[in-house]
Amino acid sequence: MFSTIGTKLVVAVTGVVLVLFVIGHMLGNLQIYLGPEAINSYAAFLQAKPGPLWAIRLGLLATVLLHIGGIIRLTLANRRARTTAYAIKKPVQSTFASRTMVYSGSVLLAFVVFHLLHLTIGAIDPENFHLTDAAGRHDVYSMTILGFQQPLISISYIIAMGLLGLHLGHGVASIFQSSGLRRPQLVPMIEVIGRIVAVVVVLGNISIPVAALLGWISPTQGRF
Ligand code: HEM
Repeated sequence: MFSTIGTKLVVAVTGVVLVLFVIGHMLGNLQIYLGPEAINSYAAFLQAKPGPLWAIRLGLLATVLLHIGGIIRLTLANRRARTTAYAIKKPVQSTFASRTMVYSGSVLLAFVVFHLLHLTIGAIDPENFHLTDAAGRHDVYSMTILGFQQPLISISYIIAMGLLGLHLGHGVASIFQSSGLRRPQLVPMIEVIGRIVAVVVVLGNISIPVAALLGWISPTQGRF
């Protein structure tokens, strides 16, 4: 359906949408530091609009599927183009992040499934998921902190965020390259932008499980 250039563009554009989602989601998550009122009312505001919420959810799902489908297509096309395998596999001018994009992406996909089961569906920690605050709203504040007070859960998030950083750091630079915007003189700046986005998203997100584990933020109710 798409040429290789078209497929690269699809991967790049869907990558941009996913990076914007991850940045927006991190900003939403950081409201946990403003206290239960801020994050619970933000969650209630999103939940109160099922139409737009489901449109965004389905849009995100389509974006993820197109992103992964594009990568699979490009990988297969690459393999077909190279009929004989290299005798010695020595990557030229590649970084650890670039060589491991498929693996970091696959683990991230598994993380998103785990994360949805944990905080959106409530299958991992049902007792904390069903808490409501004094105003009768879903107590996202206590649910999230109680979840992260469990070291195994926090450690799995922290590892996943490290992989997200690796994936984003290389991914943002590739977005510019695939969309044809990359000019040799801009390479260092683009790589720096990719790294800054990755570091901000990773540190912002990791701060939440760390703060819960160290007791810097505490639930207003619950079993811990
Ligand atoms: C420590 C980091 C993170 C925290 C604290 C966090 C927190 C949350 C919370 C509390 C919810 C449920 C919101 C609600 O019920 O209103 C949620 C949903 C979600 N999160 Fe995260 N999240 C984190 C990282 C991520 C990452 C890295 C991704 C994607 C790569 C992600 C993707 C999602 C998605 C897709 C949803 C479902 C949104 C919906 O349709 O309701 N999250 N997250």
